[in-house]
Amino acid sequence: MESNSKLENSFKVKPYPVDLPVQHYSELSTGCDEYLSNIQSDGSRLFTLPHGEKVEVTCENIGRLAFLRDGDLSHFILALHTPEDETQVVAVYLQGKWWPVGDVLKTSNKSRCGLVLVESVMERVVLFLLSQVIFGILEKPLGEDLYFSAYSLWEHGKILWQNGEAVGFYTVKKKGSLCDGCTGQSYQLPVLDTVFVRSHWRRTGLALQMLEDFCLSQPSEGILGISFPMSPGMYGVCQKYLGIHKEERDRLYEVEPPGEWAQRRNVWLNIQMRDLPKHCKALTAGGNSEQSPHSSHSHERREADLEEEGILPQKCGSSVSLKDTSSSEKKRPADQSNTGICFKKARA
Ligand SMILES: CC(C)(COP(=O)(O)OP(=O)(O)OC[C@H]1O[C@@H](n2cnc3c(N)ncnc32)[C@H](O)[C@@H]1OP(=O)(O)O)[C@@H](O)C(=O)NCCC(=O)NCCS
Repeated sequence: MESNSKLENSFKVKPYPVDLPVQHYSELSTGCDEYLSNIQSDGSRLFTLPHGEKVEVTCENIGRLAFLRDGDLSHFILALHTPEDETQVVAVYLQGKWWPVGDVLKTSNKSRCGLVLVESVMERVVLFLLSQVIFGILEKPLGEDLYFSAYSLWEHGKILWQNGEAVGFYTVKKKGSLCDGCTGQSYQLPVLDTVFVRSHWRRTGLALQMLEDFCLSQPSEGILGISFPMSPGMYGVCQKYLGIHKEERDRLYEVEPPGEWAQRRNVWLNIQMRDLPKHCKALTAGGNSEQSPHSSHSHERREADLEEEGILPQKCGSSVSLKDTSSSEKKRPADQSNTGICFKKARA
């Protein structure tokens, strides 16, 4: 992480892409075709990465990244990847020049600090890079199959800015917003859909801060959702949050769209029953193997025990869904139709 004094110096001299006035999404691709045809006719160039390494820029290692959910390539940004590996995105082309990915996540605007609503075109680009490139590729743990779908333009999101850098974000499916483009179903409650904190900044309470912000931002909603399936890390965050904020225990539910009652599972109850979906089992100390987690009978028995012990939040008894989730445990977080980043070879 850069020191404050270094950042202050850079604030004076260097605006980053997010600080530049871009009014419309079409401006993101302005000049791209001309640039590509120049590369084709004049041959390759060299781009120097912040740590000094040089990457040859040819049409072979430039791709078009569609940054909208439907993969519409009329809204794209050019991305430069290493010649060896097309998933290793090192720079993006914005405002007529290549920017290292790390610089696109920086700001020279000191007031961009803490959780800031995503509003401008460039803030959407930052959200896109964090979710699809940083979380989806560059900081993805080996063997991890969790990814976030690309967002639509009207998706509600906040980016967490710290010391001039975007270090995390969360997005929300608003109550009443459409679940997808085909079914006509809409969300029955506000749902915290995706949350991400960059690896370097983890375990410093930032996800807790975002979960709290989400809960506080919906004062009039009795029930709030978190998109199924929650990751083991997110279960850990909820466990800590609900350990502190007892009043929220019967408010947070893990939900599948559109969030009807039968599609909700109380998060605190899940934690208490040690009955996490299989993908989250790692979190539970020892599990509870002798009681089938998918038998409604054993659920009932344990609910009764928990009620007796005063663990079960009062309102949950009849409202919690005891649905067997084993069939849908291989997940997508936000929507199953999307298989990750849409990267198309760029041609002039
Ligand atoms: C899950 C994630 C958002 C947590 O972010 P974070 O900023 O590191 O979380 P916090 O620092 O606020 O953690 C608060 C508490 O939650 C618990 N926690 C956080 N990460 C955890 C993990 N991976 N496993 C178990 N518990 C965890 C801990 O109790 C932690 O307190 P502690 O650090 O004092 O022990 C982050 O690891 C991440 O972005 N993961 C990848 C994306 C993801 O899984 N998103 C959620 C999709 S549902």
